[in-house]
Amino acid sequence: MTHMSPAPGGASRRTVVAAVGATGLAAALAACGGSDDKATPPGTPDADATSGTAQQPSQPTSPPGQESSAAGPTGGRALARTSEIPVGGGKVFADRRVVVTQPSRGEFKAFSAICTHQKCVVKDVSDGTINCPCHGSKFSIEDGGVRHDPAKLPLPEMKISVRGDSIGLG
Ligand code: FES
Repeated sequence: MTHMSPAPGGASRRTVVAAVGATGLAAALAACGGSDDKATPPGTPDADATSGTAQQPSQPTSPPGQESSAAGPTGGRALARTSEIPVGGGKVFADRRVVVTQPSRGEFKAFSAICTHQKCVVKDVSDGTINCPCHGSKFSIEDGGVRHDPAKLPLPEMKISVRGDSIGLG
């Protein structure tokens, strides 16, 4: 059984009406503008009103600084607050597979939390190293370099951004 739904027909009719209305309005404006441009010298109120509306600058709704914080390049992937990361230490975010360190005050770094030995997730950060629980590998909080084997390769560094007291990935 087939029957036509009224919604598409109604919608398209409305669209057509709107399009005709817009076209008619544009035609009327063009006609008025065309005749006015020729008949009215520049500087008259009509000419000023037309150019004023056409060249009205768009106003930003918020200052540039606030705008960038609301929709930053990190896309809101906040990871931690700076206060969570101890100076000279770090914190493992196992669920995000990342460890964030602060080798010196205000200097934040992030590394993959996947041990380069056999892919365990590192457990904690202490005494300047990121520590894997599986076989005892240790990595530097400064550059992810191996400080204790059996791992041979450093933890890959990850890109983070610090904005205010918020640390985000990316
Ligand atoms: Fe980390 Fe072996 S998996 S030390």
